[in-house]
Amino acid sequence: MHLSYSLFAPLLGALAAARSIPNTYHQNAARSMPYAVKQSPLDTPWTENVGTTPWPEYPRPQLQRTQWKNLNGVWQYQNASTQDAVRQPPTGQTLANEVLVPSCLESALSGIQGKDMFYSWYSTKFDVPSPWNGQRVLLHFGAVDYEATVFINGKQAGFNRGGYFHFEVDVTDYLSSNATNELLVFVHDPTDSGDSVIPVGKQTLNPSHIFYTPCSGIWQSVWLEPAPSNNWITQLDLDANMDGQVNVTVHSAKGNATSVEVTVYDGDHEVASHTGQSDQPFLFKVSEPKLWSPDSPNLYNVTVRLGNDQVQSYTGFRTISKGKVDGIVRPLLNGKFVFMFGTLDQGYWPDGLYTPPSREAMVYDLKILKDLGFNMVRKHIKVEPALFYRACDELGLLVIQDMPSMRPLQERTDSNCKKTRILANNPQQTEFGRQLEVLINQFKSYPSISTWVIYNEGWGQITSYYPEFELTERVKSLDPTRLIDSTSGWIDHGAGDFSDNHHYANPQCGTPFYSTDSSPYDPSRIGFQGEFGGLGNNVTIENLWHDQAAINKINQTYEIDTTVEAWNYRSHVLLSELEDQVRRYACSGGVWTQTTDVEGEVNGLMTYDRRIKRVNEEQWKADIQALYDAAAARGGASQKN
Ligand SMILES: *[C@@H]1O[C@H](CO)[C@@H](O)[C@H](O)[C@H]1NC(C)=O
Ligand SMILES: *[C@@H]1O[C@H](CO)[C@@H](O)[C@H](O)[C@H]1NC(C)=O
Ligand SMILES: *[C@@H]1O[C@H](CO)[C@@H](O)[C@H](O)[C@H]1NC(C)=O
Ligand SMILES: *[C@@H]1O[C@H](CO)[C@@H](O)[C@H](O)[C@H]1NC(C)=O
Ligand SMILES: *[C@@H]1O[C@H](CO)[C@@H](O)[C@H](O)[C@H]1NC(C)=O
Ligand SMILES: *[C@@H]1O[C@H](CO)[C@@H](O)[C@H](O)[C@H]1NC(C)=O
Ligand SMILES: *[C@@H]1O[C@H](CO)[C@@H](O)[C@H](O)[C@H]1NC(C)=O
Repeated sequence: MHLSYSLFAPLLGALAAARSIPNTYHQNAARSMPYAVKQSPLDTPWTENVGTTPWPEYPRPQLQRTQWKNLNGVWQYQNASTQDAVRQPPTGQTLANEVLVPSCLESALSGIQGKDMFYSWYSTKFDVPSPWNGQRVLLHFGAVDYEATVFINGKQAGFNRGGYFHFEVDVTDYLSSNATNELLVFVHDPTDSGDSVIPVGKQTLNPSHIFYTPCSGIWQSVWLEPAPSNNWITQLDLDANMDGQVNVTVHSAKGNATSVEVTVYDGDHEVASHTGQSDQPFLFKVSEPKLWSPDSPNLYNVTVRLGNDQVQSYTGFRTISKGKVDGIVRPLLNGKFVFMFGTLDQGYWPDGLYTPPSREAMVYDLKILKDLGFNMVRKHIKVEPALFYRACDELGLLVIQDMPSMRPLQERTDSNCKKTRILANNPQQTEFGRQLEVLINQFKSYPSISTWVIYNEGWGQITSYYPEFELTERVKSLDPTRLIDSTSGWIDHGAGDFSDNHHYANPQCGTPFYSTDSSPYDPSRIGFQGEFGGLGNNVTIENLWHDQAAINKINQTYEIDTTVEAWNYRSHVLLSELEDQVRRYACSGGVWTQTTDVEGEVNGLMTYDRRIKRVNEEQWKADIQALYDAAAARGGASQKN
């Protein structure tokens, strides 16, 4: 039976409160309300397989240690009312509810499915395996939205701000030598409440149309690992290019130059080994490497040794650049014009929201895209778990990675009834820039990432001055090996490598025509269609996000096609129009909206639950191949579907 979410959630909340909160609320509740997945407004084929040991995979494929301990599973959770609660960690207490880690507290999979999750406590216990004695013990969080304060055995051990990024805490000095350790995490997530302006992407406390349910809390894997006590590898920056040049920086905990050894393998076969110094870039060559591209996503294993520390990583040899081909500025992969064609990929799940129900589910989406012939995916104002990028590297899907936007489009009404857009003040803008740097530094070693996007459609983009120019310079200096799409859609003052038009439903890609709100093509940059399509096709309630407020907004879709046949016909018309623009004008790639339906948006290649595919596969494959053929006729590399 489906109940409407808006009716159902508060009801369950009340039941939970009634059943689990004894008189001694907050103080040593006898037992925590046991974990059970809640009924979601819509589930997926993977929901019931999640169980209580989610995400068993090693979470960080580019810096992998053999010894580690996964802390994912059932933890305890309790809400709090203010930030002040952080001063009184509930040490040694039983918290009110059990919760699944990792998950969003607003999701059905969390077992909480709450609203307005501003302040939260999490707790769990862990033992450190005895063979780790004498080593440093590192506690890793894949991502916690938005601020996390970490306590070990009652003492504050770490803090992180930023909902999309990995952080680690060296907990060695807080561990109890002979007993089980208590881990408490206090989380504060304002999302878009009050005047807070922080990177949130599509999250909002009041979901509607193209903005969705928020995600609060520990939404990516948590794990422990040991590292040698004197020094260890903290980060690897790896770039391998089409000439076989490998550029490595091995960052160390001590941060001073010490000898490191880097070895590159093709399968089990060693192809190069080089000794250099940590904490500064060094170069070496691999002769005639098999290059990485969407058609042949060749990867090489890499091991790095620093003293007693050894980690496993990998890379792919390729060069992303731009250059003129027949007089038109084009994106180049390994020196050739690559027509980048992908979908707008939101990374939302009806059961897990930001957290995919499993790696298998996450990769399912990517395989659908790859099979249809897309060679790219635009990861839209969200950052995924590291294993997503590993999958793109393996499958051969270029990634256009967006920075999550600050609060978009919200207005504040002043006392004199005047409305003003809420934009970042100076400290908030500084924090946005800091988190943008974290994005680049954490993800710049994935071979598949071709492009960074700083702003989407003017969201959170200050226009009294043009911060995109300074931010573009900053991104370029942190990562000179990628292209930068400084402003994808709308407010373009000429920064970055792309002249990126958004237009619905039909494209205007590198064309001598454009519409209000979209940008005219600038021939000094790459002509690109950062969004188009968005064709809607309603489905019956079994495959819809069962929330009346969302359903009421379905008629805001740019275009509704009343049958799947009509949807495929209209898709063919729009893809053919793009192909025509590739042949006639200066179009170098495009992004179709979108991979799946999301909440009240019914414009996916698949429904939100991934159970219905709207695409006529044969037709879509032919239409996508026609785009590559048109690009090849303009000097592009030929690509096969
Ligand atoms: C936790 O949430 C419940 C239900 O919304 C609320 O009644 C209670 O006051 C909250 N507790 C705290 C400490 O905020
Ligand atoms: C742990 O060590 C302390 C002293 O360091 C000792 O008092 C206590 O009994 C030990 N506990 C256990 C469970 O061994
Ligand atoms: C190597 O990478 C670093 C950044 O990690 C960069 O500053 C440097 O210019 C690169 N060297 C070459 C030769 O590409
Ligand atoms: C690096 O720092 C450590 C301790 O901080 C010191 O023992 C070591 O000698 C230093 N190494 C170099 C090459 O400076
Ligand atoms: C890397 O090594 C692992 C085993 O450690 C192997 O399964 C994998 O195929 C290797 N990958 C590449 C790209 O060589
Ligand atoms: C969209 O649907 C809502 C509720 O179903 C209705 O109130 C509204 O008038 C509709 N808008 C349009 C433009 O059809
Ligand atoms: C979409 O389908 C749902 C479920 O059948 C229905 O309630 C809703 O009114 C439909 N909306 C539009 C705009 O067709």
